[in-house]
Amino acid sequence: MSTTTPSPAAIAPADGKLGVLVIGLGAVTTTLIAGVELAKRGQGLPIGSMTQMGTIRLGKRTDGRSPLIKDFVPLAKLEDIVWGAWDVFPDDAYVAASRAGVLEQGKHIEAISEVLRDIRPMKAAFERKYARNLTGEHTMGDIGKRAMLNAIREDINRFRDQKGVSRLVMIWCASTEVYIEPCEVHSTIEAFEKAIDANDERIAPSMLYAYAALLEGVPFANGSPNLAVDMPCLRQFATERNIPISGKDFKTGQTLMKTVLAPMVKARQLGLSGWYSTNILGNRDGEVLDAPENFKTKEESKLGVLEDILEPTKNPDLYGDVFHKVQINYYPPRGDNKEGWDNIDIFGWMGYPMQIKVNFLCRDSILAAPLALDLVLYSDLAQRAGLGGIQEWLSFYYKSPQVAPGLYPEHDLFIQLTKLKNTLRWMMGEDQITHLGREYYEN
Ligand SMILES: NC(=O)c1ccc[n+]([C@@H]2O[C@H](COP(=O)([O-])OP(=O)(O)OC[C@H]3O[C@@H](n4cnc5c(N)ncnc54)[C@H](O)[C@@H]3O)[C@@H](O)[C@H]2O)c1
Repeated sequence: MSTTTPSPAAIAPADGKLGVLVIGLGAVTTTLIAGVELAKRGQGLPIGSMTQMGTIRLGKRTDGRSPLIKDFVPLAKLEDIVWGAWDVFPDDAYVAASRAGVLEQGKHIEAISEVLRDIRPMKAAFERKYARNLTGEHTMGDIGKRAMLNAIREDINRFRDQKGVSRLVMIWCASTEVYIEPCEVHSTIEAFEKAIDANDERIAPSMLYAYAALLEGVPFANGSPNLAVDMPCLRQFATERNIPISGKDFKTGQTLMKTVLAPMVKARQLGLSGWYSTNILGNRDGEVLDAPENFKTKEESKLGVLEDILEPTKNPDLYGDVFHKVQINYYPPRGDNKEGWDNIDIFGWMGYPMQIKVNFLCRDSILAAPLALDLVLYSDLAQRAGLGGIQEWLSFYYKSPQVAPGLYPEHDLFIQLTKLKNTLRWMMGEDQITHLGREYYEN
């Protein structure tokens, strides 16, 4: 082994059912559920999911060992997943999927209509002030934060008992909440507990779901940019209780592109003077993000990427004066089919300017669903491998990866991929792949 950290002694087998509790039964969640259910029935391929379709090289390039990841690490099987959800709207997954307008009704919704109709959301822990463009009434009501926390915990335990699941994972796929700056109420569990009792408005519903998950020993993954589990008190709590956490914000479209292109610009020592990113999006997510205070949360998550990759202080001639702008415009006719434009102004040898234009016509939830599936399966794996606290190896999936205090996040997609695969190799006691490759040239 080339690493000094010993691999986990043993990974508990993925026996029994895995309960997947999703917060938000909207476009991403219904696309996730429908895709998994179709894949289980051989009626669709889980494209975009590393856990289902990816391979991993083991040993030397000459060894010819590249198993499927799902054959290499003991992941839960799709057949063992049982779904649960909360939402602000009472629609079951069939109605929610039809309304989201991502999947073809005849081919991909009717085919599994019975399963989808069976998934009915529990009442949401929700307050309008955190997403004012949402009007749903299927909520716990104005019962106070402590009562909300307790009600979420009861929901978790009822679900566990009724469905007979042996393990649970919780994932936030709900709307982006308004921007909240981490502050003293998020610093320690004592302060956080007090703030819950005081109904402090700096305690958002996502934080209550995250805390409830951790109190019940359930791993938590955060697909949105709101803080949820990304605050000192919950990070500490998750580490102490040895429960995996990860976030924030699925890296699906424009930021995915950015974390491929920006490392290329930097690798070639090209300069950057500006990066203008704009999007049109017409789904409910776009509607929620149309409120400036909700967009601010998203903006923060999207803006940090370039600075971390380019490290302007280390190379001010190339990156000391970058104009970076990100916009999302709500445009209902497009529904979930987002269109993103990037104009990138770069400069080369002797300062001569050049431009790169990207026009990505993507489907938001089609890109997000496989990430959500992988995060669920890897979070469960981490739990069984005894890995608690921040799962930085899952950075690959996030726009704004959670890292230990004092560390800068790795945003480069291919560094993230290497890190993820090396973590899997490490978990299974295989050699790290460093790409040094001297052995091929010796004798
Ligand atoms: N689709 C992508 O490519 C992508 C990428 C990155 C992040 N995200 C994030 O994922 C999240 C989900 O996206 P979506 O397109 O499915 O949005 P969506 O609006 O279709 O679904 C979100 C659902 O969450 C529900 N909700 C809101 N607050 C809730 C609460 N407190 N409790 C329970 N339910 C609640 C809403 O009623 C809605 O049905 C958004 O925050 C989005 O920003 C999506």
